[in-house]
Amino acid sequence: MTSTISHVFPLGSRVNEQGRLEIGGCDAVELAREFGTPAYVVAEDDIRARARAFLEALSARHEDFDVLFASKAFPCTAVYRLLAEEGLACDVASGGELFLALRGGFDPARIYFHGNAKSTAELREALETGVGHIVIDSLHELDRLERVAAELGRRQEVLIRITPGVAGDTHHAISTGQTDSKFGFAPVDARVAIERLSGAPHLKLVGLHFHIGSQLLSLDPFRAAVRTLAGLGKFPVYNVGGGLGVAYLASDRPPAIEDYVDAVVSTVHAELGRDVRLLLEPGRALVANSAVTLYTVQTVKRNVSTWVAVDGGMSDNLRPMLYGSRYEALIADRASPGDGGELCRIAGKHCESGDVVVREAFLADPVPGEVIATPVTGAYGYSLANNYNGVPRPPVVFCRDGEARVVVRRETYGDLAGRDVG
Ligand SMILES: Cc1ncc(COP(=O)(O)O)c(C=O)c1O
Repeated sequence: MTSTISHVFPLGSRVNEQGRLEIGGCDAVELAREFGTPAYVVAEDDIRARARAFLEALSARHEDFDVLFASKAFPCTAVYRLLAEEGLACDVASGGELFLALRGGFDPARIYFHGNAKSTAELREALETGVGHIVIDSLHELDRLERVAAELGRRQEVLIRITPGVAGDTHHAISTGQTDSKFGFAPVDARVAIERLSGAPHLKLVGLHFHIGSQLLSLDPFRAAVRTLAGLGKFPVYNVGGGLGVAYLASDRPPAIEDYVDAVVSTVHAELGRDVRLLLEPGRALVANSAVTLYTVQTVKRNVSTWVAVDGGMSDNLRPMLYGSRYEALIADRASPGDGGELCRIAGKHCESGDVVVREAFLADPVPGEVIATPVTGAYGYSLANNYNGVPRPPVVFCRDGEARVVVRRETYGDLAGRDVG
């Protein structure tokens, strides 16, 4: 018996002849045995397909464009390398992400450096490595960057981040386009920055940027934000950020990549014209659905709820704790849909009651030793991982055509003490 499974799993996932979950042609239970759990398992072809979907949707509609990987979503070398190979440019938001992007093979000229609190050291690193564009977030940063560029004898191309006063419908922690935001310039303040840049000999303003928030499931806020840019004059470059939401639950129906691109491009054409360079900056929509996390059940306890405790938790997936995010789960050993089952809470191993990875999972009598898979952990899972309770962070395993390879090894206890010098 073989069957396909929910669209939230990576493209090409299926239930194999043994009734087990298969990702990128690899049996998830065998992956768990070989690489241990917890583990982030990534279907490489899923990321490639989504990158191509962005590129194709844009090239069908607009002449001069680039797609930037918002690398905070999954900042490991192999993902940078894969997306550089696919022809994407890159967004970084710290010196560390810049280091990783360069290591992953991105041409510095195609890197955009973001952040609301960039240090002088980070600005210097960016200019010294030849980063193509800095996205200026404040007047203090503007002045600091002008000084650094002058010291280095550079004329640096910059964009200004606009906070358009558009709040998308998402969790407040990842909403960034509202007026009361730590990010960017309100349109009225942007005029001051534009004026100041006209007198900054070492900075060249080429365009405007916004990023209004993440996990947005309606296209209207993107259209509204583009309209706001139009009021600030005409520029050669417009970077309209990321933010397209993805399906976490089988019932979620986010806009397709093509529909999102269509909405953005048609509004840009109507408001800003066709003769502009258009940049999109997706993170989650590129990588979220590419990965599942594999855990092993450690204990099952029944009181008011049924608690299925696994060997990971808030150290490998902080999103449920930060944003109340919901996930699905299945038993990889018995992955056939229609198993029914009992309402379970999948709890982590950490010393907090809030350490619940999946609040509602219907599982048919899970037992210790079985492998649980939680899909949609490719974005902001690895990047938010931590060592709470001294738990080593999981490996990242890439799967393709039945071949699996570790691209980030599991942390060791030695790594936990690796920086301790006293
Ligand atoms: C400036 C900027 N661009 C792009 C993104 C990517 O957002 P998403 O992963 O929702 O596409 C973010 C996310 O925080 C961001 O801050």
